[in-house]
Amino acid sequence: MSAVDSSLALYAVAHGKIILGGEHAVLYGCPALATAIPEGLELRCEITSAKQPLILDIPHWGLYREYCDTQAEPSDPVHAAVEAIFRGAGRAIQGAHIRGKTTLPAGSGLGSSAALCVALAKLALGEEANEQAIFDLSMAGESVFHGQASGIDSELALRGGMLRFVKGQAPERLSLPTKLDIWVIDSQHPRKSAEQVQRVAARMQRFPELSSATWALFEAQVGAMQSALLAGDAARLGALMDQQHQQLRALGVSTPRLDEICQMARRAGALGAKLTGAGGGGCALAILDPAQSHEEFARALEACMQEAHGECFPHFPVELSAA
Ligand code: PMV
Repeated sequence: MSAVDSSLALYAVAHGKIILGGEHAVLYGCPALATAIPEGLELRCEITSAKQPLILDIPHWGLYREYCDTQAEPSDPVHAAVEAIFRGAGRAIQGAHIRGKTTLPAGSGLGSSAALCVALAKLALGEEANEQAIFDLSMAGESVFHGQASGIDSELALRGGMLRFVKGQAPERLSLPTKLDIWVIDSQHPRKSAEQVQRVAARMQRFPELSSATWALFEAQVGAMQSALLAGDAARLGALMDQQHQQLRALGVSTPRLDEICQMARRAGALGAKLTGAGGGGCALAILDPAQSHEEFARALEACMQEAHGECFPHFPVELSAA
């Protein structure tokens, strides 16, 4: 195994993402719709010496870890992902200080784990690596966080854009006729994707007779969402987001807080809202009425949150741009 040396890339970036529809179902062969968001992760790597540990330092995530080569099985998922990626690239766990800058919240369904795995894979494989090799290596880390991973988060973290994604197939890139405004609202309940993926798997094992109808409904909704997106029809997309949220609730991956956030977003004027990503906490998305300004929506949403909780959960807009 080669020691970490200057052929590591010294800089890497990766995107965060939002899933508009089809999360979880995408692991069972259904299509999903998702888009990269401007919030992402930037890693800078300083080569130290082979005697020094590998340091991963991402202050925004409260993450500071020192790793060195050991035979012990890592119990912490970040450590396990670092091991999977560095060992997969044939590198030793030593001799580098990796500093991360990000505005993405961690563990909130916005693709923080995939951004980390893609950016680490870029560093570990060096400047000359091709995109497929980066994607494949990032998946070794991402599978640690998701239990099993469809690849949708890694795809967006690596290449960005908006896409229809089916596991194992080349993604279809989508372009919109008109811009649409999405609002991201963070429940501030952290969760683990792998636990939610396992929860859905357990439900499917318990009710195998429901699985084909469940996934057929997801697939039909995502198909209708794609048509609404491509037609720039915010009202229809909103109604379908509401339906997706109910489906995800039926899978057991929503929470009272996420349900409440979706209701507050609708009360504030949104045309529809759903949880995004694995659920069990994390973020929800709302689609804005094009007739309502950002300021008006944000004011109304904040008033709802203040009234219910005496505080505002973090929230921010994401523009789905026209081609
Ligand atoms: O937890 P997140 O937002 O990274 O979303 C995971 C999406 C799933 O469909 C639940 C898992 C996957 O790998 O597709």
